[in-house]
Amino acid sequence: MQRTLIIFKPDTVQRRLVGQILQRFESKGLRIAALKLLQVDRPLGEKHYAEHQGKPFFEGLIDFITGGPVVVGVLEGNEAITVVRSMLGATNGAAAAPGTVRGDFSISKQNNLIHGSDSPESALREIALWFRPEEVVDYTIDG
Ligand code: CMP
Repeated sequence: MQRTLIIFKPDTVQRRLVGQILQRFESKGLRIAALKLLQVDRPLGEKHYAEHQGKPFFEGLIDFITGGPVVVGVLEGNEAITVVRSMLGATNGAAAAPGTVRGDFSISKQNNLIHGSDSPESALREIALWFRPEEVVDYTIDG
């Protein structure tokens, strides 16, 4: 069992695609351990994307992620990190394979709808950045 952080970025909320994309993850067998909608401020956006500081797209990326509300969640399941990343497809929507979230709904490098943690270390860091411990719920359901 593994947990991963997902962010439905402002483009997903604005395009009203949150439910459709969340359904893909649930249908795959992942389950929701945490979920909330919030407006991101610049310090939180800069912390989340700290590894990209200094890159040419960094300021635009912070403008984008703070440009409207996001829905952020924790998904859990077997190999959740890799499963989510493969369901998202390539970072650049224009290059992402059909059948992936970005391949089906995005044609942009920046406005690529969903962020998913890229490693167990990132998942731990990102979940702690976005959620208080009591907001991530431990529970059991069938399957
Ligand atoms: P994400 O998986 O959230 O991780 C970093 C984000 O930076 C990425 O998705 C895109 O939204 C954005 N990004 C990555 N590369 C570029 C780029 N070349 N130009 C603009 N935005 C980018």
